[in-house]
Amino acid sequence: MKPSEMPDTEEALSWRDRRRQAESDTQHISEHPENERCAARIRKSACDQKWEIRKVIAEGLAIYPEALSRELGTVLAMDSNAMVRAAAHRSITRRSPASALSSSHSSIIQNELERIERKFGIEARQEAFRLAERTAFLHIRTAAHDIKNILTHFNVDTLQLLKLRPDQATESRLHRLDKGREYLIRLVGMMEAYSRDLDMKFQNEDLVGLVNESVQAAREQVLIEGKISSPVECVVSGSSSIIVTISRFHFSMVLTNLIKNAIQSHAISERELRAGRVDVTLSKSEAGIRISITDTGKGISTKDLQRLLDFVPGNSSKPGGMGYGLPICRKYTEAHGGSFTMQSEENKGTEVVIVLPEIQPS
Ligand SMILES: Nc1ncnc2c1ncn2[C@@H]1O[C@H](COP(=O)(O)OP(=O)(O)OP(=O)(O)O)[C@@H](O)[C@H]1O
Ligand SMILES: [Mg+2]
Repeated sequence: MKPSEMPDTEEALSWRDRRRQAESDTQHISEHPENERCAARIRKSACDQKWEIRKVIAEGLAIYPEALSRELGTVLAMDSNAMVRAAAHRSITRRSPASALSSSHSSIIQNELERIERKFGIEARQEAFRLAERTAFLHIRTAAHDIKNILTHFNVDTLQLLKLRPDQATESRLHRLDKGREYLIRLVGMMEAYSRDLDMKFQNEDLVGLVNESVQAAREQVLIEGKISSPVECVVSGSSSIIVTISRFHFSMVLTNLIKNAIQSHAISERELRAGRVDVTLSKSEAGIRISITDTGKGISTKDLQRLLDFVPGNSSKPGGMGYGLPICRKYTEAHGGSFTMQSEENKGTEVVIVLPEIQPS
């Protein structure tokens, strides 16, 4: 009997038969994601009293349709059985290295916040969120510190070792070591930038000049990370002279991160960008100074955008990306008393709008 034809009630089956069925349902749904009856049986197997059957489902999370995987992932990642939990974590990580894991974590947090709101009201929810964010900053800061300590032991000079003319296999291992170390150093830098208490030094700055410098810095970073940025034209327009009161270090990091994301959204491979355009438009309105960054890149699906707007670090879809850029941008913009909004359409492009108050909070 094909899995799609199997009955929905399996009480009479032995656990070994139920396991066989869970395995064949798993296989079947990966080829027929629209089969609702099969999905219903998988949901049922995810609650089976036998951990061996729940483990089959946990292993299947890597290949189930996105919505089903997310729904069951949240439950199985907290299963009472350690084997099931471990299998679920492995599958979630395999599915999409960092983003899926953090998205299942963020939906657990989201559910908790909703529960707190229902029981104690909106103010308690907001307070709980602030506390959770503060705790996350402290954990991340500690992790950054620990990684830095470990990294000092890896601080070997690979160039010197390469001068010893090692064989080809050792040479390529040394290059890999160097790349891995570079990645960790950048990651620690991002973690620190995200979790550090902000020491803002507000000064009057020429916004147009700052935007032009940020375009240059973003282009250089894209180049360092292995892509030629010239196919993407960057155009700065709008008011030609705007003086803003900002913390230069922090705000130029916001602009550089966003322009870099906008340029990188035109990537067609690990090394190439297609032709396109990034527009940075500056204007003044009643609400304050408005900075819009639009691009003609690949855009973001509604589902991914929703996840990104939780601003939980680690949501990167890029090889070598950290997923710290947007959380840092939001944190630094809000520290300026500004607002940060983002909208996007898949295959069309993305717009980020920052509105800064003209007078900074003291
Ligand atoms: N303008 C954009 N167009 C399309 N996708 C975007 C854009 N900006 C952000 N994204 C998506 O959001 C993800 C997270 O962006 P974020 O800046 O936080 O991290 P990252 O760019 O991947 O890594 P890094 O920490 O190095 O900045 C990106 O990987 C990308 O998938
Ligand atoms: Mg980025």
